[in-house]
Formats: sequence, C-alpha cells, structure tokens
Amino acid sequence: MNTTFLQACRGEKTDYTPIWIMRQAGRYLPEYHTVRSKVTFLELCKTPELAAEVTLQPVDILGVDAAILFSDILVPLEAMGAPLEFHEKRGPVFPEPIRDQAAVAKLHVPDPETELVYVMDTIRLLRKELADKVPLIGFSGAPFTLATYLIEGGSSKAYFETKKMMYAAPELYRALLDKITDCTITYLKAQAAAGAQALQIFDSWAGVLAPDDFAEFALPYVQRIISAVKPAGVPIIYFANNGATLLDLSKTSGADVLGLDWRVNLADAVARLGQDVAVQGNLDPCALLLPADKLEARVGRIVAAGKQARGHVFNLGHGILPETPPEKAKLVVELVHRLSGKA
Ligand code: CP3
Repeated sequence: MNTTFLQACRGEKTDYTPIWIMRQAGRYLPEYHTVRSKVTFLELCKTPELAAEVTLQPVDILGVDAAILFSDILVPLEAMGAPLEFHEKRGPVFPEPIRDQAAVAKLHVPDPETELVYVMDTIRLLRKELADKVPLIGFSGAPFTLATYLIEGGSSKAYFETKKMMYAAPELYRALLDKITDCTITYLKAQAAAGAQALQIFDSWAGVLAPDDFAEFALPYVQRIISAVKPAGVPIIYFANNGATLLDLSKTSGADVLGLDWRVNLADAVARLGQDVAVQGNLDPCALLLPADKLEARVGRIVAAGKQARGHVFNLGHGILPETPPEKAKLVVELVHRLSGKA
C-alpha cells in the first residue's frame, strides 16, 4: 500500500508530497453522475456497494494518495433523530429545527453498528477493495458546524439562530453540543474500528465565529473529541474552514494535522504553527480554472512552502467545485507529484 499520506500526517519524512482533494468523489466527475443518476444522494450514502464505488472513482481516475469515504457529515444527525432531506437546489434541509429543550432531549446518541451500519459496511468494503492501493480517510463534522445545520434547519448565511442560542440560551446550546460531541466520539471510534486509517473533522463554518467565541463555543468540543479518539491510533486532521484568525487556537485542538483554506499564505501559516503539527492544503479550488502554466506556478509555491512544515498533505483549501474540468484535477495531482520529486 502507498502509505505516503499517513507518513506525512505523522510528520515522518516522505519521498514526495501526497495529495487528496476534498469532495474528490463528486459532481465534477461524469462517472459520479452515472451512479448518482440512478439514486438520490441519501440513497447513495446508504448503499455500501454504490458509496464504495464512487469513493474509488477518484483513486483510479486521478491517482490521489488517499481515498475519503463517500458519505456526508449530516447523516449522524439523522441517526440522532433529526429528519434530514436533501433538496436539489437548496442542499440539506432539517424540516424540524432544534431550538428548545424538548427538541434536544429527543435526540439520542446512536449506536454506529446498528443505526449507521451502512457507513461501517462501506468502510469494511472499501478496506478490502483498497487493500494494496491507498489509505482510507473517515470523517465527521465538528460539533459547532453540525449544530448550525440543526439549529438553522439547513444552510445559512448569517447563523443568526445559532448565535442567538449561544448568547441567549447558553445552557441549551451546551446541552445540544454535548450530545453531538458524544455522538461524534462514538461514530469516529467506530469508523476507526471498522478500518478507517485517518479521520478528518470538518468545521466548515468555524470561520463565522469571533476568536473568543470559537474558543468558548466550538473548540472545547473538538478538543474533547480528539482526546477521546486519539487512543484509536489513527492520525486526526482538523479543518476549520476560513480559520486564518483561529490558527493558534486550532493548534490546541490536539489534531495531528491542521487543514488550511486558501485565504492564508501557507508559508506564513507554517511559520506561525511551528514543527508540532503537520498541515494540509491549501490551493484555492478556483485555481483549477487557471491556465496550466499559472496553475503550475501556484502549485509549486505551495509544495515549496509545505516542505518547511512538520509534514504536508497537499489539498485544495475547500471542496472541489462541480464546474471543475476533471483533466485539471488530474493535472494538479501530476503537478504535486512531479514538483515534489516523485520518482
Ligand atoms: O470529500 C468527499 O469526496 C467525500 C464525500 C463528502 C460529501 N460531503 C459528499 C457530498 C464529504 C466529506 C462531505 C462533507 C460535508 N457535507 C461538509 C463538510 C465539507 C465542506 O464542504 O465544508 C458539509 C458542510 C456537508 C453538508 C452538505 N452536503 C451540503 C451543504 C451539501 C449541498 C451543497 C453541495 O456542496 O452540494 C451536501 C451534499 C453533498 N455532499 C454532495 C456530495 C457529493 C452533492 C450531492 C449530490 O450529488 O447531489
């Protein structure tokens, strides 16, 4: 198996810079549409054979150094008892937003091997199919990001309801986040036990918080998850999107790797973070629309900056856009490998 990705996560020396791409199994690939056209998004997540098939697509097509389980950060919330829908245009919707004590009390911490068994079966299937290829990454959302979906009832721009609960009903907010945290700990431990070889925690909306609020209302839950899951022995990546102002705080999460979005200069981030933590990132997803020579120059700068880090996993600064030509995704993988000295 190609273990370059795992070595970089652990801060071990690697022959070249490994790369995977957030949302690498997704709508920019015609092969994804072929599978997706026959089922809904949630059916795809809940059918292990199909979820495994789309997970493997970018491994074979792009030649990335890691696979990421095909699923969604929101499925454990559905298992906790919050009905979940995906609408073609609006994205995820929770038709019964969680905004009072009774609603929080009704949520439960699911048993992953029964209520989320389709995720565990997908992982087991993938480990068999990936045997001699690349490592498998499992994942979850971070409690703050997950809570925004439950409280707002879906995606949001201002996060008004979430901040209102945080400030005006902190005990209710804490009760909800504690339950989500308990669920996430059990879920990530189960993923590692089923065979996930690294775990990424997505904090997609952390960047909407003031640093003091991040420290008080988001980070402690991430720290609790990481210290509880660490004994499973797999590297943990924490990605606080839009988190340039939160870097010093994120470093205290306990993660082995910090994911960086494109708004921060990688060399500056590495200088600030020092040699205790590896980094992942951080090309702007839109850069894949650049002409090849300009793309090469940007990739080269990120690869060079990453060499100064404890370890560097190349990635985009957020998920690949559905509009991306697949050949550009392929090119970025080739560039990272060539420019970092892959034989
Ligand atoms: O990275 C991968 O290839 C693994 C699969 C994966 C998906 N979602 C598939 C998906 C992962 C790791 C996620 C995580 C996820 N889901 C996040 C965190 C990462 C991030 O983007 O910040 C978030 C916030 C979600 C919630 C979510 N799921 C939204 C807001 C949407 C709709 C908007 C969108 O981007 O499409 C989804 C749907 C979703 N999740 C799709 C895919 C491939 C598109 C669904 C489709 O096929 O119609």
